[in-house]
Amino acid sequence: MANESANGTARNIGTVILLGPPGAGKGTQSRQIVDRYGVPTISTGDLLREHIARGTELGNSAKGIMARGELVPDELMYGIVADRLRGADCKRGFVLDGFPRTAAQAGWLDAFLENEFFENKAGNGTQPESDKSTSPAGASPRKWPLVVIQLLVDYNQLLQRLTGRRSCPTCGLLYNIHSQPPRVDELCDVDGSKLVIRDDDREEVISERLAAYDRQTRLVADYYKAQGRLVAINADRPMAEVTVQIFAVLESHREQGRDLKSGEEALK
Ligand code: AP5
Repeated sequence: MANESANGTARNIGTVILLGPPGAGKGTQSRQIVDRYGVPTISTGDLLREHIARGTELGNSAKGIMARGELVPDELMYGIVADRLRGADCKRGFVLDGFPRTAAQAGWLDAFLENEFFENKAGNGTQPESDKSTSPAGASPRKWPLVVIQLLVDYNQLLQRLTGRRSCPTCGLLYNIHSQPPRVDELCDVDGSKLVIRDDDREEVISERLAAYDRQTRLVADYYKAQGRLVAINADRPMAEVTVQIFAVLESHREQGRDLKSGEEALK
């Protein structure tokens, strides 16, 4: 869990959702946000893979579904997301990678943030006095605006990114044999581990994952667009250029949050 950014300063950013199809670069870019802003990233795919590795009931239910490239049922997702968001490290904000993925999940998240998270009593049922101040606009300091950054990438580029993806089983670093190869073939630059291919990065599964995105997750973009919270960016660019675009969106998002300056002070 990241609590401090690379330069040692954690900064409030509220809820940031990275929305995009498989291979759009959500995981890659969320790491950049973590480094800069010192907030945690919550990848529901990673959480599910951890459950599978531990052989939990949820992991056993999700395993076959994920192997087919389909979405895990909404009801199975809510508990793990709620548990993670209640972590103390989430109070300044967090990046969601892979959630919400259906319109129902988006509605659930709105209700969760509104009714529970932002009034979350940090585990002891009592809201600290310092958290009770309100902004000039009257909003709770914890009610940082939510922003959804949609990563737009061409279909053929997605295929290339997914079939070329490799990751380090030890440190989690991502590579791509086309755009970001390791220095030594198939070995991690950092720890020398043999790189692995994700189970669901086989071509037949990839096409179902992309189809599931079209069927179910595009509706999430419509949901947030209707609320005026969606910012679409061209993610069909080199990684560093995509990062620059995302940071520009986040800085403008933080400008809105500055109205809640008193809240930021209260959370320090
Ligand atoms: P999840 O793990 O979330 O996978 P995904 O959404 O399919 O996304 P990926 O992790 O494949 O891609 P990414 O966008 O993170 O791209 P990355 O940065 O790795 O979900 C897996 C499964 O879990 C789902 O299919 C579902 O079954 C289940 N699940 C998860 N959440 C769920 C939910 N909320 N509800 C129900 N089910 C859920 O990049 C990909 C590659 O491209 C890398 O090699 C990278 O190096 C390269 N790359 C990245 N950016 C660039 C760039 N700009 N230029 C060139 N190459 C790039």
